[in-house]
Amino acid sequence: MDTPYCHGRKEAEELDRWNPLSNFRSRFHIPPDTVYMDGNSLGLLSKDAERSILRVLDEWKDLGIGGWMNGEQPWFVTGERLGARMALLVGAAGPEVIFTGTTTINIHQLVGSFYNPSGERSVILADELNFPSDLYALEGQVRIRNLDPEKHLVRVKAGKDRLLDEESIIKQMTPEIALVFLPSVLYRSGQLLDMEKLSAAAAERGIPIGFDCSHSAGAVPHYLSKWGVDFALWCSYKYLNGGPGAPAFLYVNHKHFNLLPSLPGWFGQQKERQFEMLPSFFPASGAGRWQISTPCILGSSPVEGALNITLEAGIERIREVSLRLTGFLADSLNTRLISEYGEFSILTPSGPHRRGGHIALTHPQAEDIYNKLLTRGIITDFRPPDIIRIAPVPLYNTFTEVCQVVDSLLNVVEKR
Ligand SMILES: Cc1ncc(COP(=O)(O)O)c(C=O)c1O
Repeated sequence: MDTPYCHGRKEAEELDRWNPLSNFRSRFHIPPDTVYMDGNSLGLLSKDAERSILRVLDEWKDLGIGGWMNGEQPWFVTGERLGARMALLVGAAGPEVIFTGTTTINIHQLVGSFYNPSGERSVILADELNFPSDLYALEGQVRIRNLDPEKHLVRVKAGKDRLLDEESIIKQMTPEIALVFLPSVLYRSGQLLDMEKLSAAAAERGIPIGFDCSHSAGAVPHYLSKWGVDFALWCSYKYLNGGPGAPAFLYVNHKHFNLLPSLPGWFGQQKERQFEMLPSFFPASGAGRWQISTPCILGSSPVEGALNITLEAGIERIREVSLRLTGFLADSLNTRLISEYGEFSILTPSGPHRRGGHIALTHPQAEDIYNKLLTRGIITDFRPPDIIRIAPVPLYNTFTEVCQVVDSLLNVVEKR
């Protein structure tokens, strides 16, 4: 790294002294010689998560199959147990959240249950900026009902600012709409949608609404039940630090516990009946019925430690620090970089209530700049065509590191 000292360092140091979460950094493994600002893509390994992985490995070693029922945390109820812990972070009741599947599988699973086209009401309302996998899954769900995605999947257009406008989404909640499915935070711009307002508007029109919360879970407080969200799903490997490809979560509002899973499997059976090996499906009473298969226990194990650390820090405090970090980053970019080099701009909305956990910086040669940052040990990410995403994460990043990122950006452009 070529920028050990940063401009604006004094202010950063003051903020680091203020940071009520600063003690958490030492509980993470920070890749050596790097400033890691990519927690919006893959969160880092905590020592807590490492311990829970090692404990499960030991259980496998010592107990073999006995780990399913006799592990310190019996493997058999991993989905329910971690679901109930996660529920505390998203404003849901324990049985409304289950730890299972992957983001894309959970989209298929829940859209499969909530998308019931009938007569005029046959269209899914989504947006053109959503993550590709979400759009592929929605198209697939339309197609398997023998409907045409050209007609039955409407994607709300973004404005010239590459952001979505809640009012125009609501205007498109017309009588043909059978389901609304949106991201909570847009993966490129970092725009946070007003989930409460959108859910209220959908409920008024009798349309079920679901959210992909992959880019907000662990970064932003949610009140899913209070907001009347019908269903939601999110991964555990970004701000929740659950590990590469770790399983995901899904939420179903308790008022829908009468719905059946579209992809039933034996792990969705009532727990106490699962080993009766019945040919008939007796679905679990809560969101557990949307489980499909035997969970990957090794892949699940770090999520336990990772969730503990997030719960200990507290989601409201995480959000407070996150907003200070992203606010400081945006201010530094504006005053030190963008004011000098007009080809840069910030795509993320400036209001704190409209941004998630990262800042999206744009530049026509973003990919080249991203690569040059990488050679300086600054880990961000690039999303085509022109976006560098920078995510200062409250649990392990510092304000001083934010300065270093801006210094490195200046250094890169000055050398160009
Ligand atoms: C918003 C969003 N949706 C879906 C996915 C795909 O997730 P998975 O590969 O776990 O299904 C991602 C992955 O980063 C994502 O960010």
